[in-house]
Formats: sequence, C-alpha cells, structure tokens
Amino acid sequence: MAPRRIVVLGGSGFVGSALVARLAANGDELVVPARRRDRARHLILLPTVDVVEADIHDPAALAGLVRGAAAVVNLVGILNESGRDTFAHVHAGLARNVVAACRSAGVRRLLHMSALNADPSGPSRYLASKGEAESSVTASGLAWTVFRPSVIFGPGDSFLTLFARLAHMMPVIALAAPDARFQPVYVGDVVAAFERALATPATEGQRYDLCGPKVYTLRELVRWASETSGAVRPIVPLRGGLATLQAFVLEHLPGKLMSRDNLASMSRDNVCGCPFPPVFGIEPAALEAVAPSWLAPEALRDKYDAARSTTGR
Ligand SMILES: NC(=O)c1ccc[n+]([C@@H]2O[C@H](COP(=O)([O-])OP(=O)(O)OC[C@H]3O[C@@H](n4cnc5c(N)ncnc54)[C@H](OP(=O)(O)O)[C@@H]3O)[C@@H](O)[C@H]2O)c1
Repeated sequence: MAPRRIVVLGGSGFVGSALVARLAANGDELVVPARRRDRARHLILLPTVDVVEADIHDPAALAGLVRGAAAVVNLVGILNESGRDTFAHVHAGLARNVVAACRSAGVRRLLHMSALNADPSGPSRYLASKGEAESSVTASGLAWTVFRPSVIFGPGDSFLTLFARLAHMMPVIALAAPDARFQPVYVGDVVAAFERALATPATEGQRYDLCGPKVYTLRELVRWASETSGAVRPIVPLRGGLATLQAFVLEHLPGKLMSRDNLASMSRDNVCGCPFPPVFGIEPAALEAVAPSWLAPEALRDKYDAARSTTGR
C-alpha cells in the first residue's frame, strides 16, 4: 500500500505521540503541526514524521496544512482554560475550522477525538464544548469518525501517574468526588482504534465510546495507583461545598490540579454502557495488567534517575 499523508493535530500530546509513533511504524507520512517545535522534539527523529511549527487556528494556514492529506486527525484538547485558550476556542472553534479546512482542501476523511459524555448541554463547559465540536464534525458531510473515550491511561498520562506522584508528595490525599465512576481505557487500545478506523470504511459516519474492561470509583483508582507506586496514603473524601472549595483554590494555583469545571464534568459517570466496539477487534487492556510497568516503585525510580542524569542533578 502506498504511504498515506496524514495530518495529526494535537500530535505532540500524550495520545498524539502514541498515535504518531504507531502510524509512523506503518510507513505513513505524518505531518504534525505544533505550536512549538521543541514540544514535539520526541517525534522529530521518527523517519516519516514532519513536525511543522504552525498556527492551526489560522484558517488559511490550516487549509494549507491539510491540502493533499488522505486524512486529518484532530486530537487537540485542553482540560483547563487559560487566556485565549478557552474551551469554546480550542474545542468548538477549532473543530469548525478543521471541518472548513477539510472541505476547502478536498480532504474527505476526518478522525475526531471527543470525550465520553460530550454534550452541548452537558454539566461542564469542557463537556459542552466537546459536544459542540462533535456537532460540527457530524454535520460536516465529511467521512468522519468520532471517538469518545473515558479517561485514558498509559506511560506519561496525567491521571494514574499524577495520583502516584501526589501520593509520594503528600502524607494524606484530600480527594474531591471520590465516588465518581470511571472506566479507564489504555492509550495503546485508543490509538489502535484510530489506526484501524483509518483502514475500515465501515467506521465512517460512526461515533464510538471507548472504555476499558472495568469500572472503578475515583477513590479506588487513587488508592490503587498510590499503592502500586509504593506509597500507601490515607484518603480523605471531600464532598459538596468542601470539594468545590478545594477546586476553587486549586484552579488558582500553578499546574491547576483541579477546577470547578473538572468537578462538574465528574458529576456524570464516565463509563460506557457497551463493550469496546467490536469493529476494531480489540480486547481492551486492564490497568492492573499494564500500568505497573510505569507506576511500580522501581519504574518510578528509573524515571527519576533518568531525569536526574539529564538535568545533571
Ligand atoms: N487523556 C485523557 O484521559 C482523555 C480522555 C478523554 C478525551 N481526551 C481527549 O483526547 C485528546 C488528546 O488528549 P491528551 O491526553 O493527549 O492531551 P494532551 O497531552 O494535553 O495533548 C493535547 C494536544 O493538544 C494541543 N493543544 C492544546 N491546546 C492547543 C491550542 N490552543 N492550540 C493548538 N494546539 C493545542 C497540545 O499541543 P502542545 O504540545 O503545543 O501543548 C497537544 O498536542 C484531547 O482532545 C482530549 O480532550 C483525553
């Protein structure tokens, strides 16, 4: 099969990096527009990947980037707003621009990353903007596929790894929304679904919820991640006004570990009512089977050692 030219927006991120590496291994030619090339330096060495610095919010620049592509993948997303990077701009606005760029450049295939519970009238601005983005994509007339994953875990995630780090830093974990339910899905399974969708016409015009094999409460996940990383910590559940207060404080601190909008998103169970879509032929991985490889104390120690030797400390 001749190499395909695929444009991956958001290719420098956690999911994007895994997808780009997987597609590059097939010999596809990948174009990864990045705000800053150095953010995508880990991709530059891949032989068929072209990282280009570009402003994808500029409609003319975007149309130029996607021209001639066999497919466009949009993975761009944020969990928290900052400055001009509002949910409306980054999710809904960009999705509209991507659709317009594909149409004007004659690209028919579009893979769009949404999120489980995305809904224009959803309980948070995150979910509402994700829902609006989906609406633009599904009304586009393009050959679209929409993916709606629960929370995604994998090496370098900002989920299990974050809980493990927090456990190593704090004597006690004060946890908002401890009863919120999630069905985490492995990044390897998510990117395999994207890869297979590109080769499977039956996935055109379809929306897929993506979840792993098991449902957990947030409290169970935090306990499991901290114990697996070798730091057993008491968990203090925060509910109601206390949870909102904690989110309010954290959203004003650097790193924004949590926001009131995140809390509102968690008011809906983040679980699938169906198995992993059979069309992909994937048996989704359980987190207990794969996550210890990067969360276990020796794996974390190796990572810290590598970071120390890089920084010379
Ligand atoms: N991770 C999860 O658990 C999860 C669950 C459900 C849905 N999703 C969705 O999956 C997608 C990928 O998530 P991820 O975990 O890989 O996120 P990530 O690691 O934060 O990556 C986000 C990507 O979007 C780019 N981006 C962010 N804001 C941008 C902006 N204003 N303009 C241009 N590019 C921008 C980032 O570029 P820079 O490198 O320049 O920052 C990066 O390439 C997102 O749409 C997310 O909403 C993720």
